[in-house]
Amino acid sequence: MTKVLRSGIEPPKVKLVTEVWGPIKSLMAARRNILEIIPEAATKQPIVSGRTGGVRWHMVMEPKAIGRILNENLDIYPKSDVTKNLLKPAIGDSMFIAEGAHWRWQRRAASPVFTHRNIASLAPIMSAAADATCARINAASDTVDMYEEMVAATFEVISNVTFSGSGAMGSDAVHNAINRYIDQTARVSLFDILGLPGWIPRPSRIFQPNALKQMKRIANDAIEKRKELGAKPVPDLLDLLLEGEDPETKRKMEMAELRDNLLTFIVAGHETTALTLSWALYLCAFDPEVQEKLRTEARSVLQGRVATADDCAALPYTEQVIKEALRLYPPAAFISRTIQADDMLCGRDIKRKDTVMLPIYALHRHHDLWDRPDQFDPERFADGHKPERYSYLPFGDGPRICIGAQFAMIEAKIILATLIARYRFEHIADRDDPKPVMVLTLRPEGGVPLKVTRL
Ligand code: HEM
Repeated sequence: MTKVLRSGIEPPKVKLVTEVWGPIKSLMAARRNILEIIPEAATKQPIVSGRTGGVRWHMVMEPKAIGRILNENLDIYPKSDVTKNLLKPAIGDSMFIAEGAHWRWQRRAASPVFTHRNIASLAPIMSAAADATCARINAASDTVDMYEEMVAATFEVISNVTFSGSGAMGSDAVHNAINRYIDQTARVSLFDILGLPGWIPRPSRIFQPNALKQMKRIANDAIEKRKELGAKPVPDLLDLLLEGEDPETKRKMEMAELRDNLLTFIVAGHETTALTLSWALYLCAFDPEVQEKLRTEARSVLQGRVATADDCAALPYTEQVIKEALRLYPPAAFISRTIQADDMLCGRDIKRKDTVMLPIYALHRHHDLWDRPDQFDPERFADGHKPERYSYLPFGDGPRICIGAQFAMIEAKIILATLIARYRFEHIADRDDPKPVMVLTLRPEGGVPLKVTRL
């Protein structure tokens, strides 16, 4: 059952392309905001193909064909070469970019790190970050940029579950190094991810070797110290990964593999979760009725406390709101692959070396898959309702589905429920809505400044 919202009122969306654009116009638009090169047809058709700068590409929005790419025919759809070459200096040949046997053993060795029990034992760090956010909001004026706040909160979580607390090294040094490192990785242009040729001018240039070197050195030191000192009283991701072993080959991660996978968790997990929370808070301000319902749930469960992992099962509406925010504004709005052998998708020939893109943003607003696709309506996910497989992919799917999805969902629930129980979030008169812009992730341009009232 779906509820009808204020008809005609939709949260901000990207204006998709409705006419045929030449390469120069496409590139100019893509430079501003890569989402602007998605043809509107991608929200109505199963597949859209084209050629840009000599690269043949296909955007695929048909669930069965997506299943073929992400699951059944995974081996001929590896992540795009360019993605790998670009990210390699920052995250090595870690789980995120490795393929075949080298990916498989790392994934098997790391899977136990993310069991529900392990995440629940790390959840007090998430609750502490939620509490610290409240303290910052209390000390601020009544207008707060909630995007900045959510970046700070999720940063605190990810740095405290990776390299912090490793003996002699101060946590400030770790925080600073991680910050500079994240700043560098965020400079990778989406042009690179899509595999567009090198002569197209990039908005900014890639890594400064020094920042990477420094982060790697700090990470190596932290791992050495931790080996010496033994695990923290509550094992964090570093401790758990140190213990991890591939059950089939018994292989354990060496120093560089441990380091690169932990750095991957930082890059993949920090900003994505901050964006989920920022858009969810924006949507709560957009729809006060939803916000009130969310608050009623949070208050009755929390009774003035900060949320914990144990509360999560009792917060189903909070989960619905987060899922709907992930549908409208998926942080990883594009997934791209370079096909290794000819194939057929939706009746169309796909040639070896073509770029295959899954524009998650368009998939989540596809007219054949969603009723009133551009409207905000958390009721879509009521009573555990699951959308058709491969039509909702905020975390990808198949064997390479996000390993941190549950970690991110628990973190988002704890922070959102704690904040909504304590504050009212409202749109600021005369301020424009944030504009969804795809940099490496789907960010709110202009931040998410909201009027925040303590209750
Ligand atoms: C809301 C937050 C998050 C979103 C939206 C998200 C999204 C995604 C997506 C879409 C993929 C698949 C990419 C592809 O197939 O090309 C992915 C993979 C991955 N994510 Fe996440 N992620 C989030 C949080 C996290 C967290 C918290 C961590 C770790 C602490 C993490 C670690 C990873 C890793 C290691 C992979 C690669 C897995 C593999 O290839 O086996 N992510 N993520």
